[in-house]
Parts: sequence; structure tokens; C-alpha cells
Amino acid sequence: MLRCLERAYKECAKALAEGDLVCIFPEGKLKRDGEMNPFRHGITEILKRHPAPVVPMALRGLWGSVLSRHEDAQWPRPIHRGAMTRLTLAVGEPIVPEDATPQHLQEVVSAAIDGAWHNSNFPDTFFRSTLMSGNTLGTLFTVTNFGESHGPAIGCVIDGCPPGMALTEADIQIELDRRRPGTSRHVTQRQEADQVEILSGMFEGVTTGTPIALLIRNTDQRSKDYGNIAQTFRPGHADYTYWQKYGVRDYRGGGRSSARMTAPTVAAGAVAKTWLRENFGLETRGCISALGEIEIPFVDWKYVPDNPFFSPNEEIVPRLEEYMDGFRKDGDSVGARIEVVATGVPVGLGEPLYDRLDADIAHAMMGLNAVKAVEIGAGFASVAQRGSQHGDEMTPEGFATNNAGGILGGISSGQEITVSIAIKPTSSIRTSRQSIHKDGAPATVEIFGRHDPCLGIRATPIAEALLALVLMDHALRHRAQCGDVVVGTPKIAARAPGK
Ligand SMILES: Cc1cc2nc3c(=O)[nH]c(=O)nc-3n(C[C@H](O)[C@H](O)[C@H](O)COP(=O)(O)O)c2cc1C
Repeated sequence: MLRCLERAYKECAKALAEGDLVCIFPEGKLKRDGEMNPFRHGITEILKRHPAPVVPMALRGLWGSVLSRHEDAQWPRPIHRGAMTRLTLAVGEPIVPEDATPQHLQEVVSAAIDGAWHNSNFPDTFFRSTLMSGNTLGTLFTVTNFGESHGPAIGCVIDGCPPGMALTEADIQIELDRRRPGTSRHVTQRQEADQVEILSGMFEGVTTGTPIALLIRNTDQRSKDYGNIAQTFRPGHADYTYWQKYGVRDYRGGGRSSARMTAPTVAAGAVAKTWLRENFGLETRGCISALGEIEIPFVDWKYVPDNPFFSPNEEIVPRLEEYMDGFRKDGDSVGARIEVVATGVPVGLGEPLYDRLDADIAHAMMGLNAVKAVEIGAGFASVAQRGSQHGDEMTPEGFATNNAGGILGGISSGQEITVSIAIKPTSSIRTSRQSIHKDGAPATVEIFGRHDPCLGIRATPIAEALLALVLMDHALRHRAQCGDVVVGTPKIAARAPGK
């Protein structure tokens, strides 16, 4: 941490000697998991040692990847943007004008930071989430999710979206409507409009480059549905672990563990999809490929919007309906497999070693409720393949196959990115199951609320959104570091003609 501070002082001194602006941030050492270990008064110390016009750009919403812009001197440590997002949210508008005197600046910033640590201006949850995080996805394009199933609203703050992109609530609503509950008898009958409101980050129809806050109000909560599980734990659900971990549990609809939290993910995904489409013609699409024991052979994407299962095969739909009716009658549930594909992906996205594109896709997909496995490309089928079969041959006309799922060495190859996820069966079922009471005594649990008999059915648009979010983040990261790299080798087609 000391070396980190020393470096900060040196960089600041150099930049300030040149009359440059400096971006400062109130965190400390970067931990291996990407979080910052906060140090007390970090920002204040810097100001004390350099009582010069240090402008807290971070607090003005301009935090970025450099500390000092002096002679292109780069601060090599990435700033954990999620933490800054929360700080900016808490602080609101710029707390110090650019022309503030050093004394004024020092007073205001010290007060803000002291106030933060000594808990006057900032909510308690700010510190907890800064330290624990877990609610933010992404590095340059970040999405911070908030809300609970039965609270007044859910939503997210997207930070790092490039400016100048045309965006409307309708662009986002289209995607939310695909995830919405209550659209067929095969999904939960909770009736949520899931109407999105854009609260910030837009001016005259285009993004401004500042945080985009999206709000979705909860309108159909029925807390009494969950009264019978307040004192016990549903087998297979998050009730037991949330209780043991936090010691506080909003049992209504699963609180924060509810899949309602995936609506903001889909909304943010719509923003990413819009940018990716505009910049690369990139599309992320998903469909169901297995419902319980029923394998669903892929026929055509065109069938996906026309049935409640996101099935790419229309002939199989009556069989799926009958199958699901059986589970509803029996008070049981079943799992599913979802395929997600990205087309039009440029070659080069992914940051080895630890932020490989496949690693980040798996991280994002495993962050979705009820996902139990993620495969990229041939996935587990690679186990039985030969090297002569698995390695995708290249010809001047393009790749011959795509066992890699569009990723080599953690970097996109320009082929389709193919991901499949396994989704477990719904835990909230009418069938009686054994559990325990809060006091440890045995209990039986039967659930009569409104639940999805197969979670996989509504997971398709969520998985698409997650893939889009990861690709958008990596597109910006690639542009930042390697955007000007040019090699003479032509970029070959994703698929050779006829392959
Ligand atoms: C789209 C979607 C809808 C879901 N709906 C329900 C539901 O109605 N009832 C339920 O018990 N679980 C539902 N879940 C799953 C739970 O949120 C999840 O199983 C629970 O939080 C435990 O987390 P885990 O399965 O990731 O371990 C849903 C998941 C998804 C992706």
C-alpha cells in the first residue's frame, strides 16, 4: 500500500508541476480479485502533501484508467469503477468546481472522505457494498444492480457507456418484454409490467457518457404468499445461505436472491446490444435446446419469438406444452439448457490471463440465478474428441469448424461465440420437501406462491443480455489498449463457405 501511495504522490507532483489536472480516488491497494482495499484518508493525504489544484475528476464523473495525464504517464493500476460509481452516486454532482482554491478543495474533499468514513453523509450500505461489492459487473462498462423482489423498485446504474448513442426507453422495453413474467401458462403468473424509466445519462435522445440510471417499479408484490417460508428454508433455494451469511433475510419473494433482479440485467443488456449492433453489427441471440429430458433440435432462429419456450423448433412445441402441463399438475419442476450465440464479434476481444473472454463469459453466466454449468463451444464434448477433430482448421476462405466456440487463448477469433448453460429445476414447488426451522427443528415445506415451473423458459433473454454485457465491456477494453494495433494478416471469415 505504501508503494502505491508513494507512486501516487510522485505522479501527482509531476503532473501538478506542469499545471495538469489529476484524477484522484479514495481507494488504496488493488486486491487480486479486482477490488480495492480502502485506506483511510488516502485522498486527504495526497492533498496535504500537494496543496495544489488537484481536481477530483473521479468525483465529477470522469474517473478513468489513469491517475495522471502528465506526459502520457499512465497510472498502471486499474481503478475499480464500481466503487467509484457508488461514490459518485452518493456524492451526486461535482463537489468541487474546477476553479476551486486548494484550500477550499482540501476542505471539501477532506470533509467528504472523513464524512464517509465517520459515517455522517453516506449510508452504511455504501461502505459495505464498496468492500463487499458483488453487485457490479464489468470493468469499463459497468452495471451496478439494486433492489429487491418486494421492494418499491429495482434497477441498475450503467457506467462507462460511450456518449452519442441514440437510445430510447422503447429500445430497452423490447428486451424487458421478452423476459417479463405472466406471458404464458408455462411461466410464473406474477403480473409485472416491467416498465423501464431512464433517469439519467441522456440528453436530446443520445447518451451523454455519464451514468445511465434505469428504474423498474415493482407493481405486483404479494408478500403474504411467502409468510409460510419466513421461519423455514426452501430446499434448493437461497433462503438458508442468505440467512446464515447476513443474519437478515427478506423472505418475500426471495428478496435480493429473486430472479426479479435479472430484469435490470436485461435492461442494461439492451443498452449493450444497441451499442454492439451499431458498432460491429454484432447480435446476441438465445434459444432453448433442451427442456428436461426433451432435446430440442435447432431448426431456425425465426421460430424463437413465436412460442412461449424460445424454441427454435416449432414442431416440438406441442410436446413441450404437454410436458410442462404435467409438471404443473404434479406440483413439480424441471431444468433446461439454453444456447446463446453472438455473431459479428470482432477478432481480439479478451484480456488474458485472468480476464480471458471465456472466463468473463462463464463468470457472468454463473452469476445468473439457477445456472449450474456453462459450456463454451464443444464444451464437455471436447473430452471425447481427438485433436485432429477439435482444432478448428483455417483456410483463406475462413474457419472450417467452430469447436472453440469463437474463443482461442481467451481472445475472440472472429467466429460465432457459442455458449450453453444448464439451468436447474425450480426449488419453489408444491411437492412437500423436508427442511428445518430457524431453530433447527425438522420441518416440511410446500410452496403455493406464483413460480416458474421451468426457470429455463424465461432465462433466454437474460443469458443474451449477459453475453452482450461481457462483449461490450471487452470491446471497450480492447479499444483502450489495443485499438490501434495493425497486423498484415487478413481477418478470415467466421465460417468458410459451405462449412
Ligand atoms: C428467470 C428465472 C426465474 C426464476 N423464478 C423462480 C421462481 O419462480 N421460484 C423459485 O424458487 N426460483 C426461481 N428462480 C431461481 C432462483 O432465483 C434461484 O434458484 C435461487 O435464487 C437460488 O440460487 P441458485 O439457484 O443460483 O443457487 C428463477 C431463476 C430464473 C433465472
